Amino acid sequence: GGSDAPAPGTIGFKAVTTSSGSSVVVPEGYTADILYRWGDPCVAGAPEFATDASQSWEAQEVQSGDNHDGINFFPINETSGLLAMNHEYINPEYFFAVTGSEDWYHPEVAANTKKMLAGHGVSVIEVRKGSDGKWSYVKNSSYNRRITGYTPITLSGPAAGHDLLKTAADSTGTEALGTLNNCGAGQTPWGTYITCEENFNGYFGTDDSTFVPSTLQNRYGLSAAGFAYGWHKGDPRFDLVANPNEPHRHGWIVEIDPYTPTSKPKKRTALGRFKHENAECVLSKNNRAVVYSGDDERNEYLYKFVSDGVYNPANKASGANLLDSGTLYVARFDAGTVTGDNQGSGVWLPLVWGQNGLTPENGFANQAEVLIKARQAADRVGATMMDRPEWVAANRTKAGEVFVACTNNNRRGSNDTPSSNKADGSTTAGSARPAVDEANPRAVNNWGHVIRWNEAGADAAATTFTWDIFVIAGNPALEGAKKGSANITAANTFNSPDGIQVDPEGRLWIQTDGSFNNTGDYVGQGNNQMLVADINTKAITRFLVGPDGCEVTGVCWTPDGKTMFINIQHPGEVGSHPNRPTSFAPYSGMDAFIANNPTAFSKWPDGASAGRPRSATVVIRKNDGGVIGT
Ligand code: FEO
Ligand code: CA
Ligand code: CA
Ligand code: CA
Repeated sequence: GGSDAPAPGTIGFKAVTTSSGSSVVVPEGYTADILYRWGDPCVAGAPEFATDASQSWEAQEVQSGDNHDGINFFPINETSGLLAMNHEYINPEYFFAVTGSEDWYHPEVAANTKKMLAGHGVSVIEVRKGSDGKWSYVKNSSYNRRITGYTPITLSGPAAGHDLLKTAADSTGTEALGTLNNCGAGQTPWGTYITCEENFNGYFGTDDSTFVPSTLQNRYGLSAAGFAYGWHKGDPRFDLVANPNEPHRHGWIVEIDPYTPTSKPKKRTALGRFKHENAECVLSKNNRAVVYSGDDERNEYLYKFVSDGVYNPANKASGANLLDSGTLYVARFDAGTVTGDNQGSGVWLPLVWGQNGLTPENGFANQAEVLIKARQAADRVGATMMDRPEWVAANRTKAGEVFVACTNNNRRGSNDTPSSNKADGSTTAGSARPAVDEANPRAVNNWGHVIRWNEAGADAAATTFTWDIFVIAGNPALEGAKKGSANITAANTFNSPDGIQVDPEGRLWIQTDGSFNNTGDYVGQGNNQMLVADINTKAITRFLVGPDGCEVTGVCWTPDGKTMFINIQHPGEVGSHPNRPTSFAPYSGMDAFIANNPTAFSKWPDGASAGRPRSATVVIRKNDGGVIGT
């Protein structure tokens, strides 16, 4: 404190260089500590991690899940709080004890599929700051909780009880089992965690050769093969023929009260069904709840929900059901009065039954169907197809200012490989690959960009906005549009912005989930990383580099901005990202690969002698106790 404290928002550290190493690199004067790894005991009484990954599903369901992602901090007092975090997926190649046989992946064994389900979902852990300033999690805290891929969750809001949500196991359509592929997240002003279901489609499949996906199933990427997990072999809930409505019960935002360990989570259907990246919640001028969320797939859309009711900041209970009733909008980005200047105006288009063609003749019988088929509703109203909208971040130091990371896109404009414009092989309405537009200006966007918008009247509930591109990522070692915008330099080059958040003093933090091959389009960019931008000058500085194979994702702070929590996801992942890939075949020899290539990939954080790399939460502090970033 005092007059010598840096001005709020100051960026004062010395940038770190790129790295292709096996550790977390932070600037001089900062410390990064490991807090909570995959398999660490979560619920009171849970066993320690088995380093050969031989733990049962019963152990996994009380230990930390895998692939940590979105994370939020819920304060208790100055020195303690709760962390709620997502476990997005599992890495099959590391998730089971391997006997030496190549034939090790057996989802048809029900206990194996159940263990994978147990590795998904959410953790809530209590964390405390010690007298030495170091944070640790409290083993056996009564707050500690796991929510998994089979925890009972209430379906609430306008789509609850709709026929499309009814299954043999739940004839009422009001209780789903589990939350899956929880990617980003958010936090409400009333102290709840809102977690996002992203690539849920990949878990479903069928061996029934007569299966043909419906239009709705196709639009959400459901297929007989799925992402090759084969869970339908071990749990018929994931068989598209046996349980055709089960996928409709996924793709939602789930609200969890971390302070009440016995509370039942709720899937809030009013916020729409799509592949939600994160859920950024702010209050409008008149205290309506506003939740922004991107649909992370090539040429999908950016949405926001505005509640009907208002929140009373003096009464947290007034938030209890705010997310059950309101208006869902989708964004259209227009070029504005000047063409080619990477800025313009925009409109939030309401997805309201009976308006803008959302009628029975067009396949929408009621508002429930508008929400269950939100992607088709957005197609119908003419929203702008984006370059994979990932995290949305609101600047809480400047009302109405919001950012979205568009991570990359190889299916736009004249780029004609691959031939469809959806990751699942389907095409959008009209089936044309979208042309470039001002908000998505590169046909080959391998590096991504970040868009900023300002809501009209600085009111999050506004239906119009102005926007500009804050940064076009790129590589100064390349030519032309590949170089990116003027605020990309040899010192801060990166690709594929994904996790973004604005800290309590108004700095924009950018995390990457892109190529770390360090060659070609990505030469000189090293491992995935975290950078910080001065929103006023647009200057960007590299703060952290992750271990090889990882992505850096999820970031939150203690309210004073002096402690930062991030997640390192899938360190040591071999090949390209299996949250999506179509087959594990390349991984079937992992045991031999691990034995024969002990230094070929990271075993972060436990080191070369460890059995497995492990996703983990990392705590970052400034050694002098100052605000992170100064
Ligand atoms: Fe799970 Fe779009 O990242
Ligand atoms: Ca313009
Ligand atoms: Ca992400
Ligand atoms: Ca990503």
